[in-house]
Amino acid sequence: MDEKAAESLSKLFPRLKAYSKERKSSNWNDLRKRIEVNFDTLFHYLYLLYGDHYDFFYYLEEVLKTAIDSNSKRSNDLKQLDLQRRDDPYWYKSHNHVGVAGYADLMAGSIKGLEAKIPYLKELKTTYFHLLPFFDCPDGENDGGYAVSDYRTVREDLGRMADLRSLSGKLRGNGISLCADFVFNHTSDEHRWAVKAKEGDPRYQKFYHMFDDRTIPDQYDQTLREIFPDVRRGNFTWVEEAGKWVWTTFHNYQWDLNYKNPDLFNHILGEMLFMANAGVEIFRLDAIAFTGKEIGTTSENRPQAHQLVRALNALTNIAAPAVVFKSEAIVHPDFVNSYISEDECELSYNPLLMALMWEALATREVKLLRHSMEKRFSIHEGTAWVNYVRCHDDIGWTFSDEDAADVGINGYDHRMFLNRFYTGEFDGSFAIGEPFQFNPDTGDMRVCGMSASLTGMEKGLENDNEQEIDLSIKRMSLMYAVTMFIGGIPLIYMGDEIALLNDESYKNDPVKKEDSRWVHRVPLDENSVANRKEAGTVENRMFKNLQRMIEIRTGDPVFRAPSTNFHSTGNPHLFSFTKVLEDRTMLFIGNFSEHIMSLESDFIRNIFGSGHTLKELWSGDTLQIHHEITVEPYQFFVIVKKDG
Ligand code: GLC
Ligand code: GLC
Repeated sequence: MDEKAAESLSKLFPRLKAYSKERKSSNWNDLRKRIEVNFDTLFHYLYLLYGDHYDFFYYLEEVLKTAIDSNSKRSNDLKQLDLQRRDDPYWYKSHNHVGVAGYADLMAGSIKGLEAKIPYLKELKTTYFHLLPFFDCPDGENDGGYAVSDYRTVREDLGRMADLRSLSGKLRGNGISLCADFVFNHTSDEHRWAVKAKEGDPRYQKFYHMFDDRTIPDQYDQTLREIFPDVRRGNFTWVEEAGKWVWTTFHNYQWDLNYKNPDLFNHILGEMLFMANAGVEIFRLDAIAFTGKEIGTTSENRPQAHQLVRALNALTNIAAPAVVFKSEAIVHPDFVNSYISEDECELSYNPLLMALMWEALATREVKLLRHSMEKRFSIHEGTAWVNYVRCHDDIGWTFSDEDAADVGINGYDHRMFLNRFYTGEFDGSFAIGEPFQFNPDTGDMRVCGMSASLTGMEKGLENDNEQEIDLSIKRMSLMYAVTMFIGGIPLIYMGDEIALLNDESYKNDPVKKEDSRWVHRVPLDENSVANRKEAGTVENRMFKNLQRMIEIRTGDPVFRAPSTNFHSTGNPHLFSFTKVLEDRTMLFIGNFSEHIMSLESDFIRNIFGSGHTLKELWSGDTLQIHHEITVEPYQFFVIVKKDG
């Protein structure tokens, strides 16, 4: 341990021990060990964040007390889980994981109602359930719940905290970890901290970035991006009551928190640990990239954002060690990877894979997908990607312009093409989608829609065209197959499992009509859910496909192999990778076009060597290798040796 850190720890221990006694903590010895193990890291990052505050040591002690206090309130059940995870620290790397993300109201009416959906989740072998925002938030506009008014109260129409605790317990009992958003870049302007700040309380004004006039906001604005340009130009909002400008990266009612303030840090830690004690095992760190602000920079992906998360990670290791973090950094791929490490976010969304699968479907070529994955898929061994096809947000074309240039693509033009393609403006496009947040200055835009509508299902149904419907199921299945087999945790977005279409009804709702993301936040209607059991229905075909993929994934440890290698097949439409675990090799080949492709059989022979009988797991058939292999439209192969 660093000398300075060791010295402060020896001074702190007696006080922490006394505090733990006062809190009637039953496991001081465990806590003591965890403090020892994590102190160096905690001290290091907290010092980087707040070392220049005269009361640094006071806060060091305060945050440890918050951790001890929270731990003393943790249920035995969760403490048991903490111990279990100590013995299996890489639990999230298992090939047994399957994630589902959904909203309580859209899936089941309420949090309580979700308990009855557990069997449905189990049909998909779910082990990870991301419950989309459910905390108290303003009536009317609230960014789909991403404007939190109280981290300790459930939104009234969804139930109560007790329901959440009960749900998390039931999920856990069924082998499902609860994931929840930790919306820590901002609160709503109705949060009690914001209310106090509006009233002029200086302590709470320091919880946010507040300014008397435009001098500093103007300096910041020169280098900041605009995330919701439809809503407001610039990044600051005038607060009449307080007579101040406040930083609002997203909507006017979402006030950015000020992490330069250790008092705020300690408070937010308390909120997070409260949620952990309600049974949240995976925190999705919402808008993580925006948490560090510095004048003259983009105020995205700043060192402070990393320090902050690392300090929080060390503190959850002490107070709630079962917990892991998932990064939600929908930013340039160079930065996405920077949040991923065992000390920071053990898990991360993979927005690049997501966006580039859609890119490959539109272009029918895999060169950008392959090149980018080759360059960027590999992450630290103790971490994992969360791979997804769709989520509750828009699709942004977050590939790197340099990667695109490497394969002869102009990034800017390509994004314009993709936007046109997926909003149905491009002649011959199969997609029905909606534009999101068009920025007239940059021409930038993102796209919304459910997988089914974006892959041609909606057009197919409109035109009663069975062939289009079939192609749509194949397109969705191909993308989902990639997420199942590439390595990491696959995450199914609620409704995709039964191929639900876009829902235009938000356009009639005055509160929602300006936000096209509602087009893909659709209720899981009973009929469609029931149809999953009716042979031949669209719902049934998609659901069965997913179930079969999940069967393959969870049945074969090769899918937890730490690395993935990408291959050029010699055919520009075929995406291919291998995973190797000890002497078992799995080869994936997927056709991103609606045309029949052929592949030299030597490609396969080079991977497995000759003289082996090969099995294709998706069809269950033995693979006949002749001179050439035929790959049907959107077909994929999952190939292993038959004998091992
Ligand atoms: C995250 C959420 C998104 C929300 C934003 C602001 O990116 O996924 O829905 O609008 O953060 O909280
Ligand atoms: C931006 C942000 C991302 C957020 C999204 C909401 O892309 O980077 O965090 O999810 O906007 O649409």
